[in-house]
Amino acid sequence: MLKRFSISLEEELLAIFDEQMKARSYSNRSEAIRDLIRKTFVKEEWEADKQVMGVISLVYDHHQHKLQEKVTEVQHDYHHHIVSTTHVHMDHDNCLEVIVVKGKAREVQELSDHLTALRGVRDGNLAMSSTGKALH
Ligand code: NI
Repeated sequence: MLKRFSISLEEELLAIFDEQMKARSYSNRSEAIRDLIRKTFVKEEWEADKQVMGVISLVYDHHQHKLQEKVTEVQHDYHHHIVSTTHVHMDHDNCLEVIVVKGKAREVQELSDHLTALRGVRDGNLAMSSTGKALH
């Protein structure tokens, strides 16, 4: 059974989507969205158990109450996954924290999500690299 729902998108993003859709010969937006969803989740599922190394980068406001402590606390909760942490004082207000991590893709993603979701974190990114074999 098909269900309908509506999506709000920025004009520019929609323009890019429509362009890509045409380039890939999709006849309508629904079919393109369905494929994107399938591909994304199937890929994630397939990759979830793979051993990866990753780099999490966070930009946050160090004036935000207790944020620095929380960022450290989350990292201690995942200490088996943390290889190293580098803290850079970007400017008067902002800190950049670059955290090298390892473990299963699912766990590394979860750690990144925890950190990025903290209030006051302005930007959070995770880049994962797979070795193709198990890490120690
Ligand atoms: Ni700092």
